[in-house]
Amino acid sequence: MSVSVLVGSQWGDEGKGKIVDILSERFDVVARYQGGANAGHTIQIDDNQYILHLIPSGILRDGVKCVIGNGVVIDPNALLDEIEFIENNDFDIEGRLFISQNAHLIMPYHKLLDSISESGTKKIGTTGRGIGPCYIDKYARKGIRIVDLLNRDLLEKKIRENLQEKNNLLKKVYNIEELDVEAIVEEYLTFDKKIDKYIADVPSLLNREIADGKNVLLEGAQGALLDVDFGTYPYVTSSSPTSGGACTGTGIPPTKIDSVIGIVKAYTTRVGNGPFPTELEDEVGEHLRKVGAEFGATTGRPRRCGWFDAFAMKYTTMVNGIDHAAITKLDVLSGLDEIKVCVAYEHNGKNLKTFPSEVERLDQVTPVYETFKGWKKDISGCKSYDELPSETKTYLDYLKGTCGFEISYVSVGPRRSETIVCE
Ligand code: GDP
Ligand code: IMO
Ligand code: MG
Repeated sequence: MSVSVLVGSQWGDEGKGKIVDILSERFDVVARYQGGANAGHTIQIDDNQYILHLIPSGILRDGVKCVIGNGVVIDPNALLDEIEFIENNDFDIEGRLFISQNAHLIMPYHKLLDSISESGTKKIGTTGRGIGPCYIDKYARKGIRIVDLLNRDLLEKKIRENLQEKNNLLKKVYNIEELDVEAIVEEYLTFDKKIDKYIADVPSLLNREIADGKNVLLEGAQGALLDVDFGTYPYVTSSSPTSGGACTGTGIPPTKIDSVIGIVKAYTTRVGNGPFPTELEDEVGEHLRKVGAEFGATTGRPRRCGWFDAFAMKYTTMVNGIDHAAITKLDVLSGLDEIKVCVAYEHNGKNLKTFPSEVERLDQVTPVYETFKGWKKDISGCKSYDELPSETKTYLDYLKGTCGFEISYVSVGPRRSETIVCE
């Protein structure tokens, strides 16, 4: 029996989907614990690409149970589209997908309020999926949950009450046309028939699997630097992608967690606004974007690209307790003459001792770099660590030593086969 948490260790899009798919070969259950359809997790099997937003990335492995935990916020339309997409691609879903009764539902007003908030002067650069406003309602104790789909009268009552309040807000504060109450009630009342069969008591289910000796993988979305507590606030998402969120987002207690696997991109990307000390707005940044196909899996936005930030990584390794890492997209660095790693942040002539918590200060730091010799060889065909060029191994050894984790996997391409398992 083992329970592992898999976290994004940067600003998301590290390749979590690919590594969850690889790992799920030896896991019985994969559970998502936070976020929503803001996530875009890509899995490539041969030449077929699958992008998942809500359903755990274990769904493409026969027999693996997939769970959506209470920490996830669910847009029912996005969920149903994804179920249809998976079924159309000949993967089984019934009897394999379980959705927590305590998960909150994204409502049309959440998406509208997300876009209103983003039209103001302080833009976060959200995915527009209604994530922030849905978590606001959850913590304001006004949310509508998956369990409410099981009681039509109660569901209707809650939707009407919420809409009355939101329509007031839209009219009086934003001077915006009110939402159509009847249309929304009618739409949401149809979801029960389609979603009811997946609803489960997730904490009981997961703890039973653990008691039965099964292997459980908890899949995070986004990344540690987007965490609402530990990330570059306010340029963050509204949930807890760090490993602590895996317990509150599923009902598995901390005493049951055995290891934390960090997904670590060999360079850095960020989509949306906010500070990014190692960002490259030059031809090297362009090279990373082009070779790494760095365009958002959910919104299609070009991702900002930059060098690996070991100073930030030491911080996220600490707050997540990452003991094992999967280094991804290493192939994207091939061909560069030199590769830089940020080892410290300089601020007002001094090196900072710890990762700054104010974005104003983070915006002013100058990265201090260590430079490594690049490698020209195409490494995407390498099947073992030993086959990698010596410069590549020097780079990996440095990341391992400075960040303080073991490297368990090295990913050298998007496909399943392009993965090196380290002994
Ligand atoms: P996630 O959100 O962390 O699951 O990552 P995304 O799916 O948003 O973005 C990662 C992208 O990189 C996807 O297009 C993957 O197919 C691709 N990818 C994953 N691992 C590798 C790798 O090792 N090399 C290359 N070239 N692409 C990879
Ligand atoms: P995966 O799971 C990268 C970013 C948005 C924005 C901020 C807040 O694929 O790694 P939100 O819509 O969550 O309120 O937006 O968070 N963001 C992501 N960036 N990968 C993601 O998910 C992201 N999900 C949200 O771009 O900056
Ligand atoms: Mg993604």
